Amino acid sequence: MATGQQIETRGHVVGFKEEISKAAETNDNTFFTWFDAAKDKDTAFVRGSWDFSLHMAQEFAPHISRPEEKVIMEIGHGAGRILAAASRSFKHAIGVDIHENNEKVAEELNARGIDNFTLYQSDGKNLPVPDDSVDCAYSFIVFQHLEKIEVFEHYLQEINRVLKPGGVAVIYFGRKYKHSINRDSRLRYLWDKWMEGFRMPKGYEELPAKVNMTNLRVSLSYARAQASECGFKVHKELVSKKTVPDGVTLYGGQNGLVLFKL
Ligand SMILES: C[S@@+](CC[C@H](N)C(=O)[O-])C[C@H]1O[C@@H](n2cnc3c(N)ncnc32)[C@H](O)[C@@H]1O
Repeated sequence: MATGQQIETRGHVVGFKEEISKAAETNDNTFFTWFDAAKDKDTAFVRGSWDFSLHMAQEFAPHISRPEEKVIMEIGHGAGRILAAASRSFKHAIGVDIHENNEKVAEELNARGIDNFTLYQSDGKNLPVPDDSVDCAYSFIVFQHLEKIEVFEHYLQEINRVLKPGGVAVIYFGRKYKHSINRDSRLRYLWDKWMEGFRMPKGYEELPAKVNMTNLRVSLSYARAQASECGFKVHKELVSKKTVPDGVTLYGGQNGLVLFKL
């Protein structure tokens, strides 16, 4: 995965916009591989489709009927590798991201035969989407880049505002790990999860970081409490997974929650 050269002190939004625009200026596939370190553009989209199935679709599926009539929104769509998969299962897909290169994303989605989407550039905090207008919302490898817990909490409020009553959100955010990252041991994962409270007594950790490295870790219990305060019903806890060629599933670096807007 591409990262900045040094610890970002100007605010992560400034750093991300700069690095992503640099990647977009190249004539090769740097832009499309910048967001998840895929080896080439097509691999990024294949892996995006896999991530959508593994991390989002299977969480939405038990609660959402007739997706072909529904609107889905991604916060932090990057180059659109996951949004492409979402748009193929839903009536309309909305992408919200801070970067300035949505034209490039739209061109690529169109080239892949996708036109049921809208992309917005945002300020990194607010969702430029009306109240009660979205059926499903998700975010994957984005909230770990927020520097401040206040922004995470504000996003929870924003997601709650834009979801329709009965809407579902699947959000991932950085987790504190020591023993379980890149391992396939459930025991190690449970140990890390139990230790979150001791290792992060405030419930979160704000870290100086290079662009595209982890700035924020949030414990499941803290995130659950914040989500409930925003009016969500917390349905399920998640952890990100990585699959490797021999079929072993490894634990990744993100906690997740499935949230229902009542
Ligand atoms: C590692 S990339 C992941 C992109 C996409 N979710 C994917 O999996 O391919 C992180 C993305 O989050 C976006 N991002 C960072 N901070 C953000 C913020 N405060 N609000 C919205 N998007 C943000 C970046 O511009 C970038 O596109």
